Amino acid sequence: MTKKAIITSALPYSNGEIHLGHVASTYLPADVTTRFLKQKGVEAYYICASDDYGTPILIQSEKEGKSPEEYVAYWNKRDYDDFTSFDIDFDFFYKTSSKENIDFSQYVFKKLNDAGHIYESEIIQFYCNNDKKFLPDRYVKGTCPYCKAEDQYSDLCEKCGRVPAEIDNPRCSICGQTPVKEKTKHFFFKLKNFSDEIDNYLEKNSNLQKDVKKYVQNWIKSGLIDWDITRDISWGVPIPGIDGQVLYGWFDNHLAYISSSLKFLEGKGINGKEFWNSADIYHFIGKDIVYHHFLFLPAMRIGIQNEYKLPDFIPTRGHLTLQGKKISKSRNWYIGLKEFLDYYPADYLRFYLTSITPYSQDDLNFSWDEFAIKINSELIGNLGNFVNRALGFAKKTFNGEIPSIEESDNIDKEAENKIKTLSDDVGSLIEQNHLDRAMKKILEFTTHFNQYFQHKEPWKKGVGTKTCLNLSVNAVRSLAIALYPFLPKSAEKIWSQLGMSSKISEQSWSSISELQIKQGHKLGTPSPLFDKVEESDIQKYKNKLSSQN
Ligand code: MF3
Ligand code: ZN
Repeated sequence: MTKKAIITSALPYSNGEIHLGHVASTYLPADVTTRFLKQKGVEAYYICASDDYGTPILIQSEKEGKSPEEYVAYWNKRDYDDFTSFDIDFDFFYKTSSKENIDFSQYVFKKLNDAGHIYESEIIQFYCNNDKKFLPDRYVKGTCPYCKAEDQYSDLCEKCGRVPAEIDNPRCSICGQTPVKEKTKHFFFKLKNFSDEIDNYLEKNSNLQKDVKKYVQNWIKSGLIDWDITRDISWGVPIPGIDGQVLYGWFDNHLAYISSSLKFLEGKGINGKEFWNSADIYHFIGKDIVYHHFLFLPAMRIGIQNEYKLPDFIPTRGHLTLQGKKISKSRNWYIGLKEFLDYYPADYLRFYLTSITPYSQDDLNFSWDEFAIKINSELIGNLGNFVNRALGFAKKTFNGEIPSIEESDNIDKEAENKIKTLSDDVGSLIEQNHLDRAMKKILEFTTHFNQYFQHKEPWKKGVGTKTCLNLSVNAVRSLAIALYPFLPKSAEKIWSQLGMSSKISEQSWSSISELQIKQGHKLGTPSPLFDKVEESDIQKYKNKLSSQN
């Protein structure tokens, strides 16, 4: 494992609130991974930014009578605050509209242009005579020329994931009229120049998911098309030397991974480029933006002579559905992160989403009933119960002072062995991005200790009581550290109930396997970690969702 890492997650558009669909597939997995890497002693930084440019944002700001600057500033702050209340712990949260990113994007544009990867061409662009504007991207809907899916945006087919050269049966998405074609001059990026090099990168990088690789390689095989990187609007990175046109948002947004990292690192007195190129680079994304991250992004980086290295990991996960239905902001079928956190603590959601989110493109589903079951039976009934039992019993029986290990039988030895192997069992799964399975391993650990405790019957105060208590309390300590990347607040609570004077965030991952709590250690005050999820509340939230829809 490299000793440095930069972790990013898909930059949220500063165009509305963060909801459960956003956090499940990208922000939460990235946060868990970063916390874990830090525990492993990696100099890891989690960098994110708001994605500020693009036609939809411009139009929306106009609708609200605000300047686009004002509009994105609001969402940049609001989104950051929501993430923070969910304990998504960015080391730096910046924006694509920063001076640094504008400069960097223009620099990349010039460099690609000088290298002959960009050309200018007169094109015919859809224009709506009714709305009196050019209609880029989302402003045209029609039929995907590849898979024939109807009602797709012109910049991305949600059915097959491809970016059409030209959509069939175009319609203006504002007024529904058939647009006319007008001439305009656009810059194009020669994406197909990079077919072989991207293919080679995909072939060689064994950290990338096999299934994603396979369909990207199929896209390459069937031929890549040049990429229109100009937009006839005013809100975006200005194209050097051209008035009234800007760079397409997908040209500059992922460059903010780099420009924001450099800004942050240089603020710490670190040489940003050197750090980037000697670090493991992770870009966490949802499957809807595979095309952009597996083709555009590598091509652009290769096109500037790999000045900044390609990603080592692009963990890609599926979409969250809500109660079995596709999440939709416009149809009001979503739950805002902020709203959810009014109902339940961040860790409930972190636990549930982690448990149901595999490391694959498969979609996952948020179900209120399943949420209640998982929280009540697994988080509370299993994990919380073990912690409370072990600490509560030690408090009551030994006045919170840890007894020594005396004789141990095979069952004790097995328990001790579970403590010793927990860090590897859980850690290797996190390293393979299987966060759901890692969480499951943690629950297996607490299941084991619940059974151990039950079997040893320490309340009878017979032989082996002290050993059982000592090992159980040590197991609680190990559990807390292993839990920290997933449920930081609960882990901190456990830590303080254990009466530890150090900070949990500073405990090394490897120390999970040590029995560091010795005879004579004084516990803090145990109390239940979680409150049960009530059926009546769940019913309320379900009703609210259906009625707002
Ligand atoms: N804002 C884009 C989206 O939500 C994601 C941008 S990720 C980036 O789809 F890196 F490319 F910026
Ligand atoms: Zn399609």
